[in-house]
Amino acid sequence: MNNTQKISFIGAGNMSKAIISGLVDKGYLPTNIMASNPSAGKLDALKDTLGIHTTHNNQEAIDFADVVMLSVKPHLMHSVCAGFTLHNLDTLFVSIAAGLTVKRLREFLPENAHIVRVMPNTPSAIGLGMSGIYATSDITDSQVHLVEQIMQSVGKTVVVKTEDDINTVIAAAGSSPAYFFLIAEVMQRAAIDMGMDKTSARTLVEQAMLGSASLMQKTPELELSQLRAQVTSKGGTTAKAVESLQQDNIDKIFARAMQAAVARAKEMSEQF
Ligand SMILES: NC(=O)c1ccc[n+]([C@@H]2O[C@H](COP(=O)([O-])OP(=O)(O)OC[C@H]3O[C@@H](n4cnc5c(N)ncnc54)[C@H](OP(=O)(O)O)[C@@H]3O)[C@@H](O)[C@H]2O)c1
Repeated sequence: MNNTQKISFIGAGNMSKAIISGLVDKGYLPTNIMASNPSAGKLDALKDTLGIHTTHNNQEAIDFADVVMLSVKPHLMHSVCAGFTLHNLDTLFVSIAAGLTVKRLREFLPENAHIVRVMPNTPSAIGLGMSGIYATSDITDSQVHLVEQIMQSVGKTVVVKTEDDINTVIAAAGSSPAYFFLIAEVMQRAAIDMGMDKTSARTLVEQAMLGSASLMQKTPELELSQLRAQVTSKGGTTAKAVESLQQDNIDKIFARAMQAAVARAKEMSEQF
């Protein structure tokens, strides 16, 4: 990645820490990164372990950067951004806050600010994140590419065409680690109820999930339904289990859950 752009993080919490660590791990110059945060502990840890610049002054971080990653909680974004002054009109603002639309961000940020929305997820903390990126028409291809490179330091990215698509990213990737943990949890419980000890039940479920995810990634030429068919012998045990899930309307259960996530994202965009 081009190491010359200066990147600031407003808010040095979990997501910023993940992205900064990813950038530095991938060889990004720590001295081209600054993080701003009110409390000292997180900043000191980032400075000591990764060697980045730190500040308690958000404006100093804005003035330092070509790219400003807005990484505070959505409900704080308005008060945090209200006082920003923009000296470099090319500065790119990247908001990772859930539910805050570009239209809303424009109300907080300095006039004519260039804004990109990114929706990452928690596996970013181990470099296996999935981020959706949405850019309005005033954003150049090279700016989008730069944001892709930043987010690819912690995983994969997709660039979506409309802002509504960001809500689909939330439903399919932002929130979905929790669905997978829930599936793992109920499967572990079912195995325990069948007499398995807790640790073994977790290992069984965890490794099966990891192996299945790796298989999906390693065989992109196969449709997901083909992968499923490959492990489902006619009349066998898997067929019986899958049949039971389908009779219980697993497709509708997931469609409803994902629609609920989208509806909440829309509600949040009106709330903040
Ligand atoms: N975590 C996720 O999985 C995830 C996924 C997608 C999107 N996001 C989005 O990412 C953003 C950050 O989430 P997070 O999980 O990293 O939250 P977090 O760990 O709570 O980090 C937020 C940070 O913002 C700091 N902060 C508070 N007021 C500030 C101010 N006035 N100026 C500068 N910094 C300030 C907080 O500092 P103090 O602790 O010192 O108050 C905290 O370190 C949120 O908008 C969230 O919606 C998170």
